Amino acid sequence: MEKKLKRIEEEALKEIEAAKDGRELEQVRIKYMGRKGLFTGFMKSIKEAPEVDRAAIGAMANKLKTKLSALFEAKSNTLERGVQKTALSIDVTMPGTGNVEIGHKHPITQVTERINEIFISLGFKIAEGPEIESEYYNFEALNIPLEHPSRDVFDTFYIKGPTLLRSQTSTVQIRVMEKEKPPLQVIAPGRVYRPDAVDASHSFMFHQVEGFMVDKNIRFSDLKGALTLFARQMFGEGTKIRFRPHFFPFTEPSAEVDVSCIICGGKGCRVCSYKGWLEILGAGMIHPSVFKAVGYNPERWTGYAFGMGIERIAMLKYGITDIRLFFENDLRFLKQF
Ligand code: DAH
Repeated sequence: MEKKLKRIEEEALKEIEAAKDGRELEQVRIKYMGRKGLFTGFMKSIKEAPEVDRAAIGAMANKLKTKLSALFEAKSNTLERGVQKTALSIDVTMPGTGNVEIGHKHPITQVTERINEIFISLGFKIAEGPEIESEYYNFEALNIPLEHPSRDVFDTFYIKGPTLLRSQTSTVQIRVMEKEKPPLQVIAPGRVYRPDAVDASHSFMFHQVEGFMVDKNIRFSDLKGALTLFARQMFGEGTKIRFRPHFFPFTEPSAEVDVSCIICGGKGCRVCSYKGWLEILGAGMIHPSVFKAVGYNPERWTGYAFGMGIERIAMLKYGITDIRLFFENDLRFLKQF
């Protein structure tokens, strides 16, 4: 029996030593000390030993019991400390690695959102239209007849038959008016496409915002008021605007609108070619033919419309001299905004 006890001791010691975590250690404890455990079984068998040996074996067994309990306890403590040690080895107070860069919105997106904000504050709603359009929305409904020069293939990307990439966001005027009844106050930002040779001021793709308002008794002074407010909010309180007579097929009368040069304040400098003014958009009173195309009675409804290039606004606002910078994904440029 003595030998048997010795064997239990040796094996238990080995297994306690080998336990890698609390769970394994508990399994070893159950194997030896549990109700059906090897050591427990041994204790029960003592009564079967010859009477003379019983006391001595009992004493040895008790000693081993104390020893094993102490070993289980000690091992359990080391394992726990190990867990604490790994937990503590993550020092949450250490400075971060600092190489996670936080991105931000593209300058064109930022300027678009600023334009939206200004017009939303005036009661405008935002609408969007498709970039792949039909000749009808891009031209016909906007009172641009077949023989008009901007219909020329050189000015528009044709895809197939009467399908094209829209060359202006004015298309959204038609799409919104077809679906909704006046009164309307809508702005429509989005991409437009033109087969222009790329240079410092031209890109085959750029962004425009179209805006229009339709109601009874809308006058040119309403257009002037809205655009004056826009120019002041966008370029600063002191900004002046002026209207120069111009031609657009979808508005009558039409105008090109300038802001006083934001660099020199109107005195004349290189940016404004010493004119004191910078052109920012086209505008006018919606043409009766446009109203007819969408089924509005031109005797009853009146409205104004305007369209501006977002890159142009951004270039003026930030003093950027080359439109290509917006589309080259050069982080040295983009990070400045
Ligand atoms: N669609 C014109 C363009 O692409 C811009 C424009 C001019 C829009 C006058 C208008 C407008 O709504 O009234 O050049």
